[in-house]
Amino acid sequence: MNSKDHNPPYPADTLGMDADEMRRLGYAAVDAVIEHLENKHSEAAIACEDPESLLAALGGALPENPQPSEASFDLLMHSALRNQQHGDHPRYFARVPGPSSFAAIIGEWLGVGFNTIAASWPGGAGPSAVELVVIDWLRQLMDLPEDTEGILVSGGSQASLTAIAAVRACRGQGCVYLSDQTHASILRALRSLGFSDNELRVLESDADHTLTAKAVQNAIAADKQTGLKPMMVIATAGSTNTGAIDPLHELADLCEEHRLWLHIDGAYGAPAALTQRGAGRLAGMSRADSLTLDPHKWFFQPYDVGCLLIRPGVLEPCFNMNPEYLKDVSGGDDAPDFRNRGFELTRRSRALKLWFSLRTYGIAKFRDAIDYSIDLTEFAEDYLRQNSQRWEVVTPAQIGIVCFALRGASGDEHERRANSLSESGFACATTTKLKGRTVLRLCIINPLTTKADIVETIDRLGA
Ligand SMILES: Cc1ncc(COP(=O)(O)O)c(C=O)c1O
Repeated sequence: MNSKDHNPPYPADTLGMDADEMRRLGYAAVDAVIEHLENKHSEAAIACEDPESLLAALGGALPENPQPSEASFDLLMHSALRNQQHGDHPRYFARVPGPSSFAAIIGEWLGVGFNTIAASWPGGAGPSAVELVVIDWLRQLMDLPEDTEGILVSGGSQASLTAIAAVRACRGQGCVYLSDQTHASILRALRSLGFSDNELRVLESDADHTLTAKAVQNAIAADKQTGLKPMMVIATAGSTNTGAIDPLHELADLCEEHRLWLHIDGAYGAPAALTQRGAGRLAGMSRADSLTLDPHKWFFQPYDVGCLLIRPGVLEPCFNMNPEYLKDVSGGDDAPDFRNRGFELTRRSRALKLWFSLRTYGIAKFRDAIDYSIDLTEFAEDYLRQNSQRWEVVTPAQIGIVCFALRGASGDEHERRANSLSESGFACATTTKLKGRTVLRLCIINPLTTKADIVETIDRLGA
C-alpha cells in the first residue's frame, strides 16, 4: 500500500502547529538569522550578562500551559542568543572562532527538520551515505590513504577520545608521549580512559613550542630501560596557543622505528593543508595513524562537528555492539553502521551541513578563505613589528595565530586590556600563557575580517 493511501482522520497534532503557523514561525527564524548574519559587524563580538538577570529573564514558573510563541521567540532572541561569544563575528579573535557559513547552516537545519539519524545503515542509509562521502572528501583533502575510515563526532575532543579509546582497545596499556602544548582535552581523554600518570609523558616543548623528536626519543629510551611499553605519540598540527606545528615527519619516523601509533591533533590547524603554504608546513600529516579534524573551526561549519580519520579496522573492534534489538538494523561491509565506530548510538547527521556547504561553495572557495586568513595573520604580525617600540611579537604568525605583548606590560595588564576590549563588544581577544608569561593572542580565521579590523583591534588593545 502506498503511504499516501493512509488518509486522515489522524489525531490532532497537539505537539505540532498548523501549516500557516509553522511557516510564520519558521520564516521569522530564517529572517532573524539572516538579519544577524547581515548585521553582525555592528553587533557585539561577545556579550555576557550576569546569571541573575539572565535566569530572571529566561526562568520563572514551570510552563504548565501554553505561552505565546512570539514572546518566547523574542526572549530567546534578546536574552539567550545575544548573550554569547559570537564566534562568527569578524572581530572575534579569542580561543578558536567559529565562522560558520550559510550553506552549512541550511544543511544543519535540514537535518534537524527531518530528524535525521545516522546510527545504522538500514535506519539511516541516506545520511550514512552522505557521511561516508564527506569523510572521504576530508580524507582526500588531508591526503590520507584510500582505505582510511572515519566518523563525524561532536568536536575535536571527542574525535581524539574516540581514537585513543580504539587504540587502547587494540594495543592495551602503554606509555603515551605528548607535550605541554597538546590540547588539554587529550590529557583529559587519556585520564578518563584510565591511563595512569605512570603511562603519561607530558614532555616540555622547545623554544618554538613544539614537541621535538629528540625529547620523545629520550623518553622512549628511558621507558624501555625501565621495562615500560611505549605505545602512542600525540603530535599537534597547529597548537591552540600559538599555531605551532610539531615536526610531523620526524615524529612519524620515530613512530615507525618503534612501532608506535601516531595520533595527530589537527583540530585547529589541519584545514591549512588545503593551501599551498599550509600544505608545506603540515608536511608529514598524512602519515598519521589517526587524525583529528574539527570542521566547526576552519571548515566554516556551525557547531557541532568534529571528525576522526583513522586507519581501517581499529574502530569497530572497539565500538562494535550488535545486541538482539539492533540485529535488524545492521548494514554490512560497504554499508557501515556508524553506531559501531564511536561512543554514540543514537546520533544525528553532522554530515549534511558539510556535504551541502562543500558542494555549494566548492573546495576552491574554502581554500581561498583559509589562505586569506593566513595572509591576514601575517599582516597582523607585520603591523605589530612596524610598531615595535610599542609591541613585541612573542610568537610569529603561524597558520592563523599570532601572540604578542605590550612592551613593559605585566601579565595582569594584558588580561585587563583583553577583558576591557571584550567588554566593549568591539572585538574579543584573550591572553594565553607561554613558558610562564601571559601574552595577548589573536586567532584570525574569519574570511570577513578586514585589515582595518586588525589594526583597530590592536590599537585598542594598546591604547
Ligand atoms: C588543537 C585543538 N585540539 C582540540 C580541541 C578541542 O576541540 P573541541 O572544542 O571541538 O572539542 C581544540 C579546540 O580549540 C583545539 O584547538
